[in-house]
Amino acid sequence: MVMKQFLLAFAAAVLWSSVVSAQTPDFAYYNLSLIWPATFCFSAPRNCISPIPKIFTINNGLWPTLQNGTQVPPYDPAESNCNYSPVAPADIVNAVAPIKTRLQTKWPNLLNGGSNELFWQVEWGGQGMCSDYPQDPLTYFTINLNLAENSKYDPLKALGVQPSSTTAYPISILLANVKRNVGFYPQISCIIQGSNKLYLREVRFCFRRAKPPTQLQDCPTTMDYVCSSVPAAQQSVIFPPPPATISGHDVSWELLASA
Ligand SMILES: *[C@@H]1O[C@H](CO)[C@@H](O)[C@H](O)[C@H]1NC(C)=O
Ligand SMILES: *[C@@H]1O[C@H](CO)[C@@H](O)[C@H](O)[C@H]1NC(C)=O
Repeated sequence: MVMKQFLLAFAAAVLWSSVVSAQTPDFAYYNLSLIWPATFCFSAPRNCISPIPKIFTINNGLWPTLQNGTQVPPYDPAESNCNYSPVAPADIVNAVAPIKTRLQTKWPNLLNGGSNELFWQVEWGGQGMCSDYPQDPLTYFTINLNLAENSKYDPLKALGVQPSSTTAYPISILLANVKRNVGFYPQISCIIQGSNKLYLREVRFCFRRAKPPTQLQDCPTTMDYVCSSVPAAQQSVIFPPPPATISGHDVSWELLASA
């Protein structure tokens, strides 16, 4: 009898620990990555939607991240590594239908012929399922839009400079501008083109974990590895203007600049 009770208690403890291990990891902040389509679409050879958006769009939605910058890995059904039975990616398309127009504008798949729905499913699988909204994709996508559409976090304002095909802006100045304008340091990400020229690819904001996240914090690192791969004296980025659209077609600013 005692043995049986002991075994039952043991079984309950094992069951409980497996439930606990499926709880959301103890992440500290969410990282929201806003991409500059003109840079993304210029980095060769890209075939982008036309016209190329002239606003920053969401590339990676709110991504649960530990305080030391380690990203919570995507949901793994074999391990139930974060939340318990989150909504499956296949089931989110209907769920987000009420905000589809907003998503199409602010969270498009920039690749020509790429499916928006597939992109959103990948985003859900990568970050949403391990967020604090595993059962509620509509809320997860809505809070991403609410932050990304808030003019306070519009990099076009926060960076404090205008796009230019001729000026290279020191990253340190851009970081200082964002700090002054929104109160906290973002992370800037770059691509390298040609002879070691850096282009501004993304501005990432780190929001303290909350339901919903609203309060920024400093990102633990202010440049990605590409920006920091060049010597400090060369850490300046080109922030290219969006291409001109002439009779429905994008005209590369590079061609314009070299004309
Ligand atoms: C970050 O923290 C986690 C959890 O404490 C740890 O497993 C991981 O090794 C740390 N990563 C780095 C780069 O310090
Ligand atoms: C933010 O997310 C991107 C992926 O979108 C990742 O490469 C980067 O390391 C993250 N940065 C921070 C500060 O968490």
